[in-house]
Amino acid sequence: MNNFFYQIPTEIYFGKGQIKQLGAAIKKYGHNVLLIYGGGSIKRNGLYQSIQNILEQNAMEAVELSGVEPNPRIETVRKGVALCRQHNVDVILAAGGGSTIDCAKVISAGARYKGDAWDLVVNSNLITDAIPILTVLTLAATGSEMDRFAVISNMDTNDKVGAFSPLFYPRVSILDPEYTFTVPKNQTAAGVADIMSHIFEHYFHQVKGAYIQDRLSEGLLKTCIHYGPVAYDQPDNYEARANLMWASSLAIDGITWRGNEVPPSVHPMEHQLSAYYDITHGAGLAILTPHWMQYVLNDQAVGKFAEYGINVWEIDAKLNPYEIANQAIQKTADFFVSLNLPATLREVGIGDEYFQVMAEKASKGLENAFYPLTAKDISAIYNASL
Ligand code: NZQ
Ligand code: ZN
Repeated sequence: MNNFFYQIPTEIYFGKGQIKQLGAAIKKYGHNVLLIYGGGSIKRNGLYQSIQNILEQNAMEAVELSGVEPNPRIETVRKGVALCRQHNVDVILAAGGGSTIDCAKVISAGARYKGDAWDLVVNSNLITDAIPILTVLTLAATGSEMDRFAVISNMDTNDKVGAFSPLFYPRVSILDPEYTFTVPKNQTAAGVADIMSHIFEHYFHQVKGAYIQDRLSEGLLKTCIHYGPVAYDQPDNYEARANLMWASSLAIDGITWRGNEVPPSVHPMEHQLSAYYDITHGAGLAILTPHWMQYVLNDQAVGKFAEYGINVWEIDAKLNPYEIANQAIQKTADFFVSLNLPATLREVGIGDEYFQVMAEKASKGLENAFYPLTAKDISAIYNASL
């Protein structure tokens, strides 16, 4: 296991009715609130009204930024930065999924930066100060509620870039699984694929002795495989929603990858798809993941894939390692299809027109991946996914 530093400063209030903690939590950080949310799901499921009541009871001033897009845009970040400056905002409350939370994170730093917020997205070193952020999570997927990443799109240049900073950790996140009961089936499924992908990105490593990270990862993967279909079929199944929600936070915060970190492979490839075609992140991951697995399976990797097959999919350990690995990859693909996730790029309207440029962009930094990938390799994976 490699050396590492691990610190998660986010306070988590998990479970039914935890919204009652919100008033006191906001007060710890400020009084002039910027409330950020997406296209209106929080108005339809009652969360918006609960937040309004809390703000009112605590006599807080609040301005709003609504309409944060899935795959949040830099233009929306700029609007939020302007609101913060205009209203002297001292605390930000993001209520929604990963897009809303990511947008809030870059707004929080953008408001304390003199230049344009896009500078911070492309150069995280410029993030030196940020307004405190609190979140109320409504979709189990990205882990943004308990991590230091934010992903923002610039559709003018077809760039979707991840920024990171310790200042991006939300101070407090309210995780009430009941708020995810209204998540539509396609987003529930995409969320499961995203959680699983966050785990795969580091589970497939070549670091010796990261036993605990591997077993934690397998437990989280089994949780997704067990509860994903339950939440898909029964949207208001609390147990399923609760397990997926906590899995989403744990999958990316570092508990599974500190000590065995490798550069993610499938995420950079998927971010290009979203940047050029504005597709749902988790759907893109579900398409690419099995093809990436098949592409990187070789004599060096087969042991790890067999471990995955045996420990996660309970495939007979007595079989030949390649047989186990191939069965495990097929089971992964079948699982995503069972959740009605797309299996090919064509299904989400993607052809091969930008493969070369997307592959070039995605390949930056992948020379140290689990299986080092060049632009040519990535192009081949895109082609196999068509
Ligand atoms: O906008 P609203 O009306 O809220 O509707 C959203 C949106 O249409 C809807 N939704 C969310 N909660 C709901 C709900 N609908 C009904 N009931 C609810 N309770 O779901 C749709 C998708 O929301 P979004 O926030 O876009 O989804 P997600 O949480 O999957 O976030 C995706 C974004 O996060 C980035 C992705 O690239 C993408 O831009 N990621 C962020 C990461 C991070 N910060 O660590 C890591 C990830 O790998 C990922 O890249
Ligand atoms: Zn992801």
